[in-house]
Amino acid sequence: MTYQSQRVAYPYFVVALLLFALQLVLGLWIAFNYWFTVPQAIVDVFPFSTARAMHTNLLVLWLLLGFMGATFYAIPEETQSELAWPRLAIVQLVLLVATGVVSLVGFLFGWTQGRPLLEIPRPLDFLIVAGALMFLGNVGMTILRARRFTATQGSLLGGLVFLALMYLFGIPFYRNLAVDWYYWWWVIHLWVEGAWELVAAALVAFMIIHLTGVDRRVVEKWLYVELGLFLFTGIVGTGHHYYWLGAPKYWLWAGGVFSALEPLPIALMLLDTWNHMRESRRPLRPRLTWVFLFGMAVLHFVGAGAFGFAHTLPQINYYTHGSQVTVSHGHLSFYGAYVLLNLSFFYFAMPRLRRFPTDEYRSTLGHWGFWVMSISLLGMSLAFAIAGVLQTYLERVQGQAYMVAQQPMRFWMLVVFLHGIGVLAGAGLAIVHLLTLKPALAR
Ligand code: HEM
Ligand SMILES: [Fe+2]
Repeated sequence: MTYQSQRVAYPYFVVALLLFALQLVLGLWIAFNYWFTVPQAIVDVFPFSTARAMHTNLLVLWLLLGFMGATFYAIPEETQSELAWPRLAIVQLVLLVATGVVSLVGFLFGWTQGRPLLEIPRPLDFLIVAGALMFLGNVGMTILRARRFTATQGSLLGGLVFLALMYLFGIPFYRNLAVDWYYWWWVIHLWVEGAWELVAAALVAFMIIHLTGVDRRVVEKWLYVELGLFLFTGIVGTGHHYYWLGAPKYWLWAGGVFSALEPLPIALMLLDTWNHMRESRRPLRPRLTWVFLFGMAVLHFVGAGAFGFAHTLPQINYYTHGSQVTVSHGHLSFYGAYVLLNLSFFYFAMPRLRRFPTDEYRSTLGHWGFWVMSISLLGMSLAFAIAGVLQTYLERVQGQAYMVAQQPMRFWMLVVFLHGIGVLAGAGLAIVHLLTLKPALAR
């Protein structure tokens, strides 16, 4: 850490980690509900849909807070200047967390807009827009004042502006539900397969430049190629959500072809990370930071690229649409791409923020955390996938009713739940480890 103002990243990381833990507890509760029929009295006060809204909104909130913290950490080093308004960054954190807490409590009382992942009620949306404006203003002003522009910075800022703009499409409500869902995907799909990928590519490039000593130009050259490909495939790829929505028929082939190409930039990112690791002028240290970084590159590819491709062609999606196959892909892709990205960045930045004598830290607990969490999450995604294939066959091939098909799936939901305990345990280890990180013992 070279600049004082980078320190504002720290509270963002701490809050993000605590919300992550809460997200997992709620996830475990939902999985339990799929396996075990809880008494109606409990359902009456805490319905499944409320727990699910809390689980998914917490995910989005903590990932975004992590990205914001990471941006506040990276921008001063990229621009070689202090943040424009470090205090505003703290005000913004308080505003966003307070809005998040009010939303969660609101969900408990049925105050919701109803669209999955974006249930936050409209009045609170405006507070989020205010928080986003503070964030973009702060970052933009820092860059403007410094007059130093890098490709990494450009991709980061471009991704963040794109992200904020797309959020606006989730605020109005359209009476025609087909139209409403149409724009809902502008937020959801164009976030995870557009804006967030740009942010991810920039943050990975930033970490690799600092960890390997590979020339910035080499790293950034690939950044351009990846960004171009992400935008080219990801934007029209939105069509893979328009197949059965009442949208025009051409989306069947446009969405199919372009989204089938989406694994390409993700594979490139994996290959690129691998190449930079081999070309690194320094040993790959700290070891655990690299375990997280490389784990991210691999599971990003498996979860988003492979599991995404598996059901993206309309011929397949016709059967699997909206089943547990989707859930399997959703979990592995979010984990591989964005949970591990955030955790990698936290591991990268924490020793620097805490001013350890070297970047090395004691890492045993974190290794356990990574492997227990990742293996459990992989197992959980496979269990969802089996439940999904079963569901697809029973509902879409045999024509069974939704609740009839749920019965034989229950066993696999128990398997999901058991793996969920592993995910919570592993994440707990990593969270505790990160929050109590200690410098390596001198040798
Ligand atoms: C890191 C990137 C990605 C993330 C975080 C992600 C996450 C998700 C999530 C959460 C859903 C479920 C949305 C819902 O219906 O509620 C979904 C659906 C879907 N994703 Fe992804 N995804 C990613 C990348 C991809 C890629 C690259 C492809 C294609 C190659 C893909 C193909 C699909 C398809 C076809 C669906 C719709 C499934 C259905 O019809 O039910 N995704 N994704
Ligand atoms: Fe998508």
